[in-house]
Amino acid sequence: PARAADIVDEESGAPGEEQRRWEEARLGAASLKFGARDAAAQEPKYQLVLEEDETIEFVRATQLQGDEEPSSIPSLSAQDQQKESIQAVRRSLPVFPFREELLAAIANHQVLIIEGETGSGKTTQIPQYLFEEGYTKKGMKIACTQPRRVAAMSVAARVAREMGVKLGNEVGYSIRFEDCTSERTVLRYMTDGMLLREFLSEPDLASYSVVMVDEAHERTLHTDILFGLIKDVARFRPELKVLVASATLDTARFSTFFDDAPVFRIPGRRFPVDIFYTKAPEADYLEACVVSVLQIHVTQPPGDILVFLTGQEEIEAACEMLQDRCRRLGSKIRELLVLPIYANLPSDMQARIFQPTPPGARKVVVATNIAETSLTIEGIIYVLDPGFCKQKSYNPRTGMESLTVTPCSKASANQRAGRAGRVAAGKCFRLYTAWAYQHELEETTVPEIQRTSLGNVVLLLKSLGIHDLMHFDFLDPPPYETLLLALEQLYALGALNHLGELTTSGRKMAELPVDPMLSKMILASEKYSCSEEILTVAAMLSVNNSIFYRPKDKVVHADNARVNFFLPGGDHLVLLNVYTQWAESGYSSQWCYENFVQFRSMRRARDVREQLEGLLERVEVGLSSCQGDYIRVRKAITAGYFYHTARLTRSGYRTVKQQQTVFVHPNSSLFEQQPRWLLYHELVLTTKEFMRQVLEIESSWLLEVAPHYYKAKELEDPHAKKMPKKIGKTREELG
Ligand code: CDP
Ligand code: MG
Repeated sequence: PARAADIVDEESGAPGEEQRRWEEARLGAASLKFGARDAAAQEPKYQLVLEEDETIEFVRATQLQGDEEPSSIPSLSAQDQQKESIQAVRRSLPVFPFREELLAAIANHQVLIIEGETGSGKTTQIPQYLFEEGYTKKGMKIACTQPRRVAAMSVAARVAREMGVKLGNEVGYSIRFEDCTSERTVLRYMTDGMLLREFLSEPDLASYSVVMVDEAHERTLHTDILFGLIKDVARFRPELKVLVASATLDTARFSTFFDDAPVFRIPGRRFPVDIFYTKAPEADYLEACVVSVLQIHVTQPPGDILVFLTGQEEIEAACEMLQDRCRRLGSKIRELLVLPIYANLPSDMQARIFQPTPPGARKVVVATNIAETSLTIEGIIYVLDPGFCKQKSYNPRTGMESLTVTPCSKASANQRAGRAGRVAAGKCFRLYTAWAYQHELEETTVPEIQRTSLGNVVLLLKSLGIHDLMHFDFLDPPPYETLLLALEQLYALGALNHLGELTTSGRKMAELPVDPMLSKMILASEKYSCSEEILTVAAMLSVNNSIFYRPKDKVVHADNARVNFFLPGGDHLVLLNVYTQWAESGYSSQWCYENFVQFRSMRRARDVREQLEGLLERVEVGLSSCQGDYIRVRKAITAGYFYHTARLTRSGYRTVKQQQTVFVHPNSSLFEQQPRWLLYHELVLTTKEFMRQVLEIESSWLLEVAPHYYKAKELEDPHAKKMPKKIGKTREELG
């Protein structure tokens, strides 16, 4: 463990001055001013040697203007007192003084755009005001959509608490594969995707009196589609109220789209935020994050820290590293509570981020983009922003979708910085240079509709009877090629006929709340008599990537445990094997623990599986088992995923149709084998274009399951002379 003497003065290398500051920091002395050592210099900077040569130098460059004077940091006890009465907190929110005015505006206008800083109370208060005002009389419901599952859950829980009701009674949430609502639920927080699916059962949303499309600025695919559909419904349901709520971005666009609907502005309450940039680019932002958090912790006055990372894996790694360093520093530093937040985090863990920080301690919340606008955590004074986010991108020419870590936009960076100025003047440390901010970041994030595949949405719109997609009322239209490709894919999957009309099979596919390819796989399990196994595979794929647990100190054991599940044929069968053995153990958590399998993920897979099983009857698929004949399972998977295939060439794997170079993911059970033909579940671009969850297939199966997509000729294998003949025969058999 590091000793106090390790903390050296960065100029002289002597422990003296730094040690004193260190001690002060330990005692929680607020006198340690950021950059105090360089008071003479124009630009304050600080540097603290925590260990060896790990330091990051920041330069103060700009300030995000606030509309309030900088104030001292409110003491935690004051905040606690404020929490004393939940009603007092409600009354303290920026939206509260505008309650009557807002309700009047809603009464007078069918569509209202509501703009307000994050944390002003839009999401939690407005639906409650409407409830209090009687908008839920006669059993009518209020919907409030959220782009993220976590936000829908946590906000519903908060509102239930504020209203003093049990979650799932008057207030509930509904997210994919999880419905926490009942007959009594009149305030429904739901993901935008769920409201979209509501249109299938209730095309005019007749049971809703108000629809609030929240976090509209996020411009998710589902939110964008909702805009078009709701605008249409509003025309023939004049009594329906439509609210579009957004952070202070883009509201003019929303207004124009909704025939110049008025914009209601909730004045902000924001303190100035000083922005610091690194002097030089950081090579490893995860490591840089960990070092910076500790630097802030030991040099900065009280106040919690919010760190933005891109996803669960990164967040878990960062939290582990932080906890590790804190343990080594022991009592030399004040207590640092390290709390993760990401989409798949179980709700009891999520709740922890909202609990007040104990006196004397500091909280660091390591979050995904979710904390950018959807969630507000009290007490944040410092924001650490590496400047990245995970973004989907789609190439309509190749049909390849990938999730990539990319630089965030300037708009996003400023939203993040703003999180530091909610309760007092704050600081935002950007782990990139001022130059990079100016020259490398895009102004705004491209709406998701322009960088994702549209198969899902097109299928849904077709099932709603919307045929002319080219003329759908899009806020921003998707690229023409993407739309075309979605139609082509749905045709190849048999969901649409050659006229672009929905087929019986397409109607069934739309019934299942999963991607068309996964739906198709489930439908195909009827033909191959293996629906039991396919349901399991589908459920396991939907909790993807978080099945195995790999603690740092037991890497060898964990890897051995994983290899023990390997079955010839590939990763889908490995997933099936894990689930089957777990079920045989009586769904035991002990079994998970012993086999380095994540119990939480498995429990979720079980829920998903049950729900999908419940839908089988509706899509006319009977329960059947392959009885160990895994070829049938593999063929059913191929029937859904024939688009995602790759073949081994002299220069490695290439996708069959587009000839893109791809690689088997090192975690795959097939990593060391080289089957000639592969199917993959998804592509992930990190250092390379990796195929995740791969399955060995035979080329003849492709002709069997997708005869109108593949031609025998393109599946010919130059190495096997007999191949063409054999394939020819298969085609004949198929007619
Ligand atoms: O939607 P908007 O960003 O305008 O604000 P909000 O989400 O309604 O948040 C209003 C207040 O509720 C904030 O002060 C949050 O800290 C608090 N809140 C909470 O304590 N727990 C949640 N799960 C959500 C909000
Ligand atoms: Mg909100």
